[in-house]
Amino acid sequence: MDRIRITGGKPLHGKIPISGAKNAALPLMIASLLTEDTLVLDNVPHLADVVQLQRILNNHGVDVTLSGKRSGEAEHAGQTVKISAETIVDTVAPYDLVSKMRASFWVVAPLVARMGQARVSLPGGCAIGTRPVDLLIMALERLGANIEIEAGDVIATAPKGLRGGDIVFPKVTVGGTHVAIMAAVLANGTTVIENAAQEPEVKDVADCLVKMGAKISGAGTSRIVIEGVSKLGPTRHSVLPDRIETGTYAFAVAMTGGDVLLEGARPELLQSALDLLAETGATVTATNEGIRVARNGAGLRPVTVTTEPFPGFPTDLQAQLMALMTRAKGTSRITETIFENRFMHVQELARLGARITLDGQTAMIEGVDRLKGAPVMATDLRASVSLVIAALAAEGETVVNRVYHLDRGFERLEEKLGACGAMVERISG
Ligand code: EPZ
Repeated sequence: MDRIRITGGKPLHGKIPISGAKNAALPLMIASLLTEDTLVLDNVPHLADVVQLQRILNNHGVDVTLSGKRSGEAEHAGQTVKISAETIVDTVAPYDLVSKMRASFWVVAPLVARMGQARVSLPGGCAIGTRPVDLLIMALERLGANIEIEAGDVIATAPKGLRGGDIVFPKVTVGGTHVAIMAAVLANGTTVIENAAQEPEVKDVADCLVKMGAKISGAGTSRIVIEGVSKLGPTRHSVLPDRIETGTYAFAVAMTGGDVLLEGARPELLQSALDLLAETGATVTATNEGIRVARNGAGLRPVTVTTEPFPGFPTDLQAQLMALMTRAKGTSRITETIFENRFMHVQELARLGARITLDGQTAMIEGVDRLKGAPVMATDLRASVSLVIAALAAEGETVVNRVYHLDRGFERLEEKLGACGAMVERISG
C-alpha cells in the first residue's frame, strides 16, 4: 500500500493547477444514463473514484472512452471522457460495486427514470457517519416510484414512468438534490424541489442537463423547478474547478507561508472559506488566472466557524482548516454540523503535537508553536489531506499511510505540492 513521506518546513512558492471537481464529475457521469446519446465531459479529474464509477457504468452496459492527449494540450490537463449509454443492459448495481463509493447509489435515479426499474444496493455506513439515503428514497417516491427494500437492495419501479411532484427536503442534501433532479428531468409534468442544495456542483450538473434538453430553472438556489421532457440528447460539458481542492491548497499555503497561484480556481465557489482564510492573516487575491494566496512570516490568527451547506463553510474543508489552526496564535473553535462523526483526524493531528479537545460537535484547537513529524493515517480523503497540511509545517518527517484515500479525491497531490517546493514523495508498496 502506497504511503506519502513529507519533510516539513518548506514554504510553498509557484503555481498549482486546479483540477475538475470530483463531486461534479461523478454525478455528471451518472447523468449520462439519462440519454441514449453520447455525453462528452471535459476536465474530468484523474481520480480513483472516477475509475470506480466507470466500472459501475460499464456494468450497466455503458461505454466509457477516454481521449488521449491532444496536440498543444497541457501535460496534465483533465481528461475528456465520452460516455454512451445507448443501451442499458443491466439495471442492477450490486453491493460489491456500490459499497466502494457512496455516490454510486445515485444511479438509481436515472435508471428508474429512463428504464422504469432499478435495483441498487444500499451503500452501507462510512467513516464519516451513518449517511442514510432516506431522503433520496423519499424524493423518488414523491415522483411516483414504488420502492421496496430487499436483501439490502433498493428496488425502485415506475413501469409507466415517473410523474412530476413536490419535494420538500427537511434538511439540505446534496445527493438528495442530485437524485431528485435526475429523476424529474424525464418525469411527466412539473417537479418543484424546496430546500434544495445550492452547492455549485448541483448547478454544474443542472447546466449540463439543460444543454442536453432538460427544462430546469433555479438550480443553485434553494427552489428548483423542473418541467419533465420525454427525451434528452447529446452534449459536451466541461467540469467546473474543484473548490475543495482549491481550499485545501489555499490552507496549505497559509500553513507553510509562501506565495502560490491556484490556477483556474474560481473565488465565488468558496468565498466563505477565502473570507475565513483572510481572517487568519493570509492574503487572498482574485486574479484573471485564478486565486493567489500568500502569507509572510506573520502568525496566524485563530477563527471560530461552523460547517454549513453552501454558501456556508464546507464540511469538506473542516479537517484542513483544523490542521491550519493547530499553528494559530490562540484558540479556534470549529463546529461540524453536517456529519456526526467527522473528527477522526483529531487523534492523528494530536500525534503530530496538536492540542485539540472535543466537546460534542465542537473542536477546540489551541494553537501550538511547533508540530513534529510522526507516522499517521486517516480513514477518509479530507482527513488524510489535513494530515498532509499539518505535515508540511511539522519539523522532521511525517509518513501518511493509506494513501489510497488521497488518490480518491486529490489528483497528483505530491507532484502539485512538490512543484511548489514541498518535500513530498510517494513510497510505493
Ligand atoms: C456530498 O455527499 C458530497 N459527496 C460529500 O463530499 C459532502 O461532504 C456532502 O455532500 C456535504 O456537502 C459527493 O458530492 C459525491 P448530503 P452527500 O446528502 O450527498 C444527511 C467528499 O469528501 N442525509 O448532502 O452524501 C447526511 O447524513 C464527500 O468529497 C440524511 O439524513 O451528502 C448528512 O448528515 C464526503 N438522509 C447530511 O444529510 C439522506 O437521505 C448531508 O448529506 C441523505 C443525507
